Amino acid sequence: MSLDHLLDNLWQEYTGRNPHALKIYQLFTARGETVINDHIAFRTFNNATVNIEQLAKWFKNYGYIEKGSYNFPVKKLIAKHYEHEDEKLPKVFISELLTEKFSPQLQTIINQCIVKMTANPIVNSETMLYSGNCWGPISYSTYKALLTESEYAAWMYVFGFCANHFTVLVNELKTFNNLEDVNSFLLGNKFELNTSGGLIKGTPDVFLEQSSTLAEKRRVNFIEGTYEIPSCYYEFAKRYPLTNGKLYSGFIADSADKIFESTNVST
Ligand code: NI
Repeated sequence: MSLDHLLDNLWQEYTGRNPHALKIYQLFTARGETVINDHIAFRTFNNATVNIEQLAKWFKNYGYIEKGSYNFPVKKLIAKHYEHEDEKLPKVFISELLTEKFSPQLQTIINQCIVKMTANPIVNSETMLYSGNCWGPISYSTYKALLTESEYAAWMYVFGFCANHFTVLVNELKTFNNLEDVNSFLLGNKFELNTSGGLIKGTPDVFLEQSSTLAEKRRVNFIEGTYEIPSCYYEFAKRYPLTNGKLYSGFIADSADKIFESTNVST
């Protein structure tokens, strides 16, 4: 495979599961925009089989380098971001849940999922990055139990490994002046936006402003029946130049903390 092929497969899988992201992308291109992807985000657990390093290695194979690390003490997550020397390529943001900070029940559920996928040869290929649920039939009561402790754990249990979101780099849009205009355009087209921490997370002072849609609900088959579960969202980022004139390329933990809530069941 090539990096282009991997990025394309990730986009196809993501837009297949989240048609609203494709609709927004098409609305931008219909205005004559060329949509540049700022970053792709992934979620995982801190288990040695599937932790950040295990996901990052497929991108490192194509020349990506670790550039930043982040802490989310309330959600009990850590994250790292990776960049390619070709600045046109998207950054990669990978977070992992610190499972030992949760109940023994949660740890058991997650460990059982990981054990089931360890035997799956997909773990040893980059298609693992968009392999979804690798642990077979899922239970709605287990999902609800996970929800009481961690929205992130519950989301991972249902959706597994995939691009959690793609991100439009607002700086490269020619027909919008700023992120406010992008948000107004989306609201005007009846898309729902994440309001946690305000429509726009971050300020020019921290060199990054972000907004996002609310995750689209998908019908998911559980052992007990079919239920609608928030899937993924589309993000919009405007970056500001540092004193050296280069655009800030990192992430802001306080803002990302709120963006994570785009997949919450109750916001
Ligand atoms: Ni993001």
